[in-house]
Amino acid sequence: MAWILTIVVSYLLGSIPFGYILVRSFQNEDIRQSGSGNIGATNVARSNKPLGIATLLLDALKGWLAVVLTHTWVKLFHLGSPNPAMDLAALAALCAVVGHMFPIWLNFRGGKGVATALGVFIALSWPAALAAVAVFIVALVLSKYVSVGSVAAAVALPIFAWLLTPHRTLFFVLCSVAIAALVVYKHSSNLARLRAGTESQFLR
Ligand code: G3P
Repeated sequence: MAWILTIVVSYLLGSIPFGYILVRSFQNEDIRQSGSGNIGATNVARSNKPLGIATLLLDALKGWLAVVLTHTWVKLFHLGSPNPAMDLAALAALCAVVGHMFPIWLNFRGGKGVATALGVFIALSWPAALAAVAVFIVALVLSKYVSVGSVAAAVALPIFAWLLTPHRTLFFVLCSVAIAALVVYKHSSNLARLRAGTESQFLR
């Protein structure tokens, strides 16, 4: 029961397309028709910086909330021993990121999962989240491409999750690898543009 609740609630939370909703509400535009076409914070910021910041915060918040809610039902259902608790939280994290990337509300065409992955890892393992943010900043500053920062942070994330998470389980590490792989997969078009030399630099 707790597993099903975790999957459904986390997916639905993750699938709320805040970038799309904010741009539609405040600018009456479809963000999928501008810039990179992505519904994430970077592309929203290209058209409106405050809305981009709001998208970043809300996309991270929904991921964080999915994990925190799961911790709550672990307590309610008395699943308190470390492994089920950690495994359910990791499942919540994966489902929230999948919800963001493949939202039922937008024909399963969603964002790239970076802000939502940040949110879930702040709740799951803040040292790993912080270390991944550091990698993101260094790669962004060196390359001037948000996508390079995102892919570098995603690749580093499972390593930090393994090294910096107390009570980690194999399932937790596998979920971290799955999240990282999905984020990299969702950046396929960015990687193709980087190879072709046509990727937009920071916020352009
Ligand atoms: O987090 C998404 C970012 O890495 C790339 O966004 O809009 O340039 O595809 P975008």
